[in-house]
Amino acid sequence: MCHFEAKLVMLPKHGDPRGNLSFAENFKQIPFEIRRVYWVYDVPGGENRGGHAYKENEEFIIALSGSFDVILDDGVEKKRFSLNRSYYGLYVPKGVWREIDNFSTNSVALILSSTLYDEEDYIRDYSDYKIWLQHER
Ligand code: TYD
Repeated sequence: MCHFEAKLVMLPKHGDPRGNLSFAENFKQIPFEIRRVYWVYDVPGGENRGGHAYKENEEFIIALSGSFDVILDDGVEKKRFSLNRSYYGLYVPKGVWREIDNFSTNSVALILSSTLYDEEDYIRDYSDYKIWLQHER
């Protein structure tokens, strides 16, 4: 199974002298129904977040402010995506190991998720992830 359906999506952007506006809608820019929204902010310099995979949850990550890198790993291939514009989002399919690092000062990561929070959906250990992949493939 190839998990690298991950993709960078350019969101609509309404440029205006009063300020810009971008948006995203279910099944349009976002290829799933949004069930949960969370955001990560006030990340101290040098910290990283994530370091896990979800068995079912899909997500869409937007750098609302500032910048950071999302590293995706499907067990075979590793890709780094730099998010530094509020009008780009990264679609992350289920079953992909993901980490976020390189946070700029005052950056805000908005994460749109396809499932409600469920700790059982997480794989938090990389060697468990590799074992899980063998059963998935
Ligand atoms: P976690 O997903 O481990 O953060 P990250 O992937 O950024 O490293 O979540 C950190 C904590 O927050 C963890 O104890 C679970 C809790 N949490 C919720 O209660 N609800 C949520 O929707 C999320 C994403 C996390």
